[in-house]
Amino acid sequence: MPITTCIFDAYGTLFDVAAAARIVAAEPGREDFAEKWPQIAQDWRTKQLQYTWLRAVAEAHTDFWEVTQNGLDYALEAAGFTDAELRKRLLALYWELQAFPEVPEMLTMLKNAGMQTAILSNGSPDMLAGAVESAGIETLLDDVLSVQDVGVFKPHKSVYDLVGKRFSCKSEEVLFVSSNGWDAAAASGYGFYTAWVNRSDKPMDRLPWKPQHVLQDLKDIPRLAQTVK
Ligand code: LAC
Repeated sequence: MPITTCIFDAYGTLFDVAAAARIVAAEPGREDFAEKWPQIAQDWRTKQLQYTWLRAVAEAHTDFWEVTQNGLDYALEAAGFTDAELRKRLLALYWELQAFPEVPEMLTMLKNAGMQTAILSNGSPDMLAGAVESAGIETLLDDVLSVQDVGVFKPHKSVYDLVGKRFSCKSEEVLFVSSNGWDAAAASGYGFYTAWVNRSDKPMDRLPWKPQHVLQDLKDIPRLAQTVK
């Protein structure tokens, strides 16, 4: 079935989640942080995601901003940092993450091809609005869907249900794109046509479902969306 609707994960897929730590590491006077930032960025992201999964299975939902802060607090303590100003600066940058360079052109090509486009993210609506605005891609998206509307994090099925409810489309008409291997896999299990954007050459997650495509970046998404029959 031809693709009518292209749905994107936000953090790590359209927006570069490592950018906050990388920018802070380059600021004057941050030499100690600069030595440890890759590990901190990795721990921050890993803990943020683990907390979403744990809260989903424990039925203890909160908003993504809280787990983002909890993940950073864990990562900073693990690296021996107690600096409140550093914490504040890292968190502030999370509201204005950079989009990956190919994002505006890729979305423009999808819109020119008549596709519906949206974000489907764990992010809370205010965080997502900040990132979308700072990336300047508001006009290239038909909607920004947040798990906040269902009160549970990905990969709960009710999150993926938001797409069909919003766009009145069948799951086979949806190309779902995520840089998170587990998200792409679960969306494939749900019934979406999926692409996993594997920028850093990671192994495939060992889950019962597999994405249909593995790409290195987002450049090929418009061609892929139009070749599915
Ligand atoms: C999101 C996270 C999983 O945007 O990256 O939903």
